[in-house]
Amino acid sequence: MDTRKLRINGKRLRSTLEEMAKIGGTPGGGVTRLALSDEDKRARDLFVKWLEELDLKITIDEMGNIFGRRAGRNNDLPPVMTGSHIDSQPKGGRFDGILGVMGALEVMRTLHENKIETEHPVVIVDWTNEEGSRFAPAMVASGVWAGALKQDWAYARTDINGKKQVEELERIGYKGTAPAKKWPVHAYFEYHIEQGPILEREKKTIGAPKGILCLHWYDIYLEGEANQVGPTPMEGRHDALCAAAEMILKVNELPGRMGGNMVATVGEIQNYPNSRNIIPDKVHFTVDIRSWDDGLAIKAWDLVKKDFQNIAGRRGCPIRIEETWRVEHAPFDEKLVQMVMDSAGELGYSYLHMVSGAGHDASYMNQICPTAMIFAPSIGGRSHVEVENTTWEDCEAGGNVLLQCVLKTAGAAQ
Ligand code: GLV
Ligand code: MN
Ligand code: MN
Repeated sequence: MDTRKLRINGKRLRSTLEEMAKIGGTPGGGVTRLALSDEDKRARDLFVKWLEELDLKITIDEMGNIFGRRAGRNNDLPPVMTGSHIDSQPKGGRFDGILGVMGALEVMRTLHENKIETEHPVVIVDWTNEEGSRFAPAMVASGVWAGALKQDWAYARTDINGKKQVEELERIGYKGTAPAKKWPVHAYFEYHIEQGPILEREKKTIGAPKGILCLHWYDIYLEGEANQVGPTPMEGRHDALCAAAEMILKVNELPGRMGGNMVATVGEIQNYPNSRNIIPDKVHFTVDIRSWDDGLAIKAWDLVKKDFQNIAGRRGCPIRIEETWRVEHAPFDEKLVQMVMDSAGELGYSYLHMVSGAGHDASYMNQICPTAMIFAPSIGGRSHVEVENTTWEDCEAGGNVLLQCVLKTAGAAQ
């Protein structure tokens, strides 16, 4: 058969996504499916059931990554791999991550029902804890798998309640036995929503990112002196939350000071004891800095770190800084990026060469094999929110581009 004519089943992709969206579904139309939560477990169980229906060889590794392997004609050849993540942000959207896993599943189903043989094996993957919201950092399990992060360190990371990542992997029954260790991969494709406004603004159906910005994460711990707010004069206070407030604004101003080409965000904060009539004596907050220019992001951090130290000194609030995680910017394989654009063109979809500001497991995969991504437009450019949305038509278009890229790299196209 002429595999260039092969298409995914858009209706089936839609119903698969709708079924997944019920797991952890929120009243506002989004999902909360935090990494290694009960909801993550239920979604994984359903995913594994769907993989079993396709007779794939299923492997679960020590980081809980789930792989489903479809044999090729030559199983000595390295596989083509595609997938993304099943976990979500708190009150996140119905497409982030899951579109790439269900899109890959739809590709597998299409290959299966059309009895397509490929030269290379094809592997579908769900990476554990891509979001890094419950257990920092993000992309931790693809990072371990690619050899960039240490497994013991990842295991020991804790959530806000002190639960270790490894304990939660065990609890939900997804601490597998296969080593979380890379093997040769011929090509990796990750299909994802854009999570930004550019495709919609440019009226394009497919995005072909040339790569992903660097991501740098920091954790700041401040100490103050708690006291009754009424009788304690304003002079001489050591208010940890006020120190944090000043620091947060410094982070917000940072991209402007560095001349743009960067974003910087404080997205998480814990304040203790968090009572309206006690001066806060303990604050934790996070810093996220991203840029295409790794050096610029580090310079920015050095600058703002000095500001933090000055503010902490002036306010008499001891500071502890943890440089939690850095992943370098990831310039994708140019030939594969071109393949994404060519495939979109052949299918009659408009496309755009762009950059990914969001982090993806593709960052770590890019360190070990030729990698590219396929983006579908995000309505209103909104993501990591319940209203996150992408049209079913666009979901189908991206799935077709993924199918063609898999066929071409796995060796089935005419
Ligand atoms: C991943 O979701 C990110 O933070 O970009
Ligand atoms: Mn994602
Ligand atoms: Mn995300």
